[in-house]
Amino acid sequence: MSRPRALAYFWATLGLLLTYTPLLPTNNRLALGAELVLKTAGVVLNGPGLMAISGTLGYLVVCSLPGRLAAWLVTLLLLEPILRWIEGPRNQSPLCEPAELERRLTRRTFLVTGSGLAAGALLSSYGFCVERRKVQLEQYLLSLPDLPPELEGLRLVVMADWHCGPINRPGDLHPAVVLANRCRPDLVLMPGDFVSSVAHFGEAAQLASQLRPRVPGGVLLGWGNHDHWNDLDVGNQEMSRAGCQILTNRAVFLNHRRELDRSGKSGLWLCGLDDLWAGSPDLIKTLSPLPQQQPRLVLSHNPDLAEERSGARVDLLLSGHTHGGQVRLPALGSPVLPSRYGQKYTSGFVQGPSYPVYVTRGVGVGGIPIRLGVPPEVTLFELRQGPGTAVQRTRLV
Ligand SMILES: [Fe+2]
Repeated sequence: MSRPRALAYFWATLGLLLTYTPLLPTNNRLALGAELVLKTAGVVLNGPGLMAISGTLGYLVVCSLPGRLAAWLVTLLLLEPILRWIEGPRNQSPLCEPAELERRLTRRTFLVTGSGLAAGALLSSYGFCVERRKVQLEQYLLSLPDLPPELEGLRLVVMADWHCGPINRPGDLHPAVVLANRCRPDLVLMPGDFVSSVAHFGEAAQLASQLRPRVPGGVLLGWGNHDHWNDLDVGNQEMSRAGCQILTNRAVFLNHRRELDRSGKSGLWLCGLDDLWAGSPDLIKTLSPLPQQQPRLVLSHNPDLAEERSGARVDLLLSGHTHGGQVRLPALGSPVLPSRYGQKYTSGFVQGPSYPVYVTRGVGVGGIPIRLGVPPEVTLFELRQGPGTAVQRTRLV
């Protein structure tokens, strides 16, 4: 790498890191204390990811034709005159020696690369400071076969991937909880990844305790890979204390009176499977005891489970895990997805070979702490009886 280009990378990266920390929002008045230390630690830990994404975005900007034109324009109209003014009149002779010309070209390369990286840093800053906090509500009518008439109009909110930790602070995630309550849900279903570090299960429990489903005990959750990697004993303790029901290879029944029960003649099963990567999901054990003619929704953190063939009836898997890819690039889609099946299970409703699955984009961020073109999501389903599983976009709130 040439020296000017290396310098451009260095200054863009340093500027990026120096920009993020003071821009982080404050959640309480003690922002200058432990809160800020946590946030700063989070930024530093994620520094390599931030640098990589900023560099990639900057590279794409200077490589694409419109991006290159914009970079040249900024360079010629803004940066060059500033540098000339700084250098003074002695270097502004129209006649240039070859060495001088080479120096100017090198400087131009530096400026073009630098402005591209600055654009990348700007996009990353937007993804970190703005878009990852702009939670959106996705609303659907969900048709299920064999749904009892008494359960028509039942409202389910689905949320996943809070990833409570140094980056996803309670203040960042609380708007999603408020939005969920605004939907007046009967049940709240959460397919995993509540934390990014074990020290934050308490914060996840605090947030979960603020959910207000109309059905008593109606916050149901399954674990994700990150929950497993951060001590499930603590997770079980904290989330149970918050009033959540933990469904690990287990099912509960919502009867026609909209009460949670062990079983019944008419109602809807709500099942939870263990995580595919870090746990032991057992479809047969969980689903085979259920009466075949009764509908069932299944929480599975990882949507890849839709490819597993068990023969059991599943009307809809509810998943998260992919975060919608977090970053969507024009023509390329989401370059990083934790799935064995490429971009198939990025987000939304997908018909898998074994089961239909709805993949929510999640609320928090993991890995690279930005979202671009993939805002956080809270999902609201209102249930209908239908001949098969189908979703239809609508407006309910
Ligand atoms: Fe996740």
